[in-house]
Amino acid sequence: MKPNTDPNQEMKQNAAFEAVKHVKNGDIVGLGSGSTAAYAIKAIGERVKKENLHIMGIPTSYQAFQLAVTYSIPITTLDEHPQINITIDGTDQVTPELKLIKGMGAALAREKIVAAASQLNVIIADEQKKVRLLGEKGQAVPVEVLPFATALAKQKIAMLGGTALVREGKGKLGPTITDNGNFILDCLFGEINEPETLEIKVKMIPGVVETGFFIGLTDIVYIGVKDGIEKIERLRK
Ligand code: 5RP
Repeated sequence: MKPNTDPNQEMKQNAAFEAVKHVKNGDIVGLGSGSTAAYAIKAIGERVKKENLHIMGIPTSYQAFQLAVTYSIPITTLDEHPQINITIDGTDQVTPELKLIKGMGAALAREKIVAAASQLNVIIADEQKKVRLLGEKGQAVPVEVLPFATALAKQKIAMLGGTALVREGKGKLGPTITDNGNFILDCLFGEINEPETLEIKVKMIPGVVETGFFIGLTDIVYIGVKDGIEKIERLRK
């Protein structure tokens, strides 16, 4: 097996363990994507086994689906369970106001659908994901687009002050293809003061399927830091 060389592994793992404590018997659980969410899926699988927990998972990607199978988590669909009790997912950036950029794993569209269907959204991260403003440190906003709309979307994003690059695939030639058969545009806007407004403008571009802005969706964030875990919480109105 390849050794895990991720320097933030422990922080991600600690945040995941804390989040998984929220899962209760009988829950429908949204399973996030990415390396941090993978720790949560593994920990959920361990609870299913040890505590004989009866839950069902809804994966947000083929990655999450395969991990759920590996860790023997029973799977269901959003069609069967359009109301999800809890979703645990990772993030690429998080502000103190619980605004996020997600999608560096190209799973943003399904992740946002699952988050919108969830009563409780718990986000897990290591301390490198903490920012004051979204877009800091050269972070791009991933945007999923229909392949047919790529050129138009790039033009429209430039008109909004951004630079959009088609994400290249790894292990294949040409663009990354999402689990929905679309392309990802990584859009650089610099530091973003009003992500709510920008999200609406990007979402209005014909052919845009979803943006990586996750605003007003998150209830709790657990951030693994060097000497423990930080918790940020918001109260739903
Ligand atoms: C995938 C995501 C991931 O949750 C996000 O990219 C964080 O990944 P990681 O935990 O590997 O840093 O949004 O679309």
